[in-house]
Amino acid sequence: MAALQTGDARLTEVVDDFLLILKGFIRNHQISHEEYRRAVSFMVETATKGEIPLLLDVFLEATVDQVDATGRGGTETSVEGPFYAANAPLMKSPCVLPHRAHEPGDLLLLSGTIRSVEGEPLSGAMLDMWQSDAEGAYSHFNIPEHQAPWNLRARVVSDANGRFEVQSWVPSPYQVPKDGPTGALLSGIGRHAWRPAHLHLRITHDACQALTTQLFFTGDPWIDSDVVGAVKQSLIVTLTKHEDSADLQKRGFDKPYYTINYDFTLPRLMCKAA
Ligand code: BEZ
Ligand code: FE
Repeated sequence: MAALQTGDARLTEVVDDFLLILKGFIRNHQISHEEYRRAVSFMVETATKGEIPLLLDVFLEATVDQVDATGRGGTETSVEGPFYAANAPLMKSPCVLPHRAHEPGDLLLLSGTIRSVEGEPLSGAMLDMWQSDAEGAYSHFNIPEHQAPWNLRARVVSDANGRFEVQSWVPSPYQVPKDGPTGALLSGIGRHAWRPAHLHLRITHDACQALTTQLFFTGDPWIDSDVVGAVKQSLIVTLTKHEDSADLQKRGFDKPYYTINYDFTLPRLMCKAA
């Protein structure tokens, strides 16, 4: 853990306010000793089962995202969530995400251009992409023995014109893990655990502010009730289906595929030229 500075003013301000709010909450709700002990046990169990990131990301990260993104400009941000893994395989666009020999689901071609907010194409931008598979599972986290290492994860470098083209598979909606304390809490307060299908993207470039975001799909049954509350209108895209047999043959696909073209814009870092 990073060392805390003695007398850190920001830390003092936020911890003092946090405690004030919690103490007010305890008074307002007349929290009993028994309820307090149950809350302590819940936190211990959440930590023991490695669910602290999941719990906080489900209930709080979308609010942090709203606050932190205020006045930012460029493509809208969304939450990172607990399923990011650093150092995914590095690939040059165009490329195919690492996948299993018989990856289930529909083929997806995601393409677009990465630009600064002033409209300049960003060559050499890094698009770090991760997603669930067509059965709602993430490599590294869910049933890892059923997944190739780095399945459906890569860091893709944009070309000289800021363009990228990645072949992947259409993800499906999934439920955040329900077998632990986070799931028990959701069910205890009568909430479902579904997220609409989405692609996770984190885009970086030397001259710009990093962008962490997600893309969602029109018509998804959970688009209006994401358990995490991370959907933004500008991030909902329409999947276009392609089934022309000559085109499929030319591409070497044995079934229809879907495309999304989405351009990303990144705000510049202050005082840095591209
Ligand atoms: C996700 O998108 O992977 C996610 C985000 C927040 C909480 C749980 C999952
Ligand atoms: Fe996700």
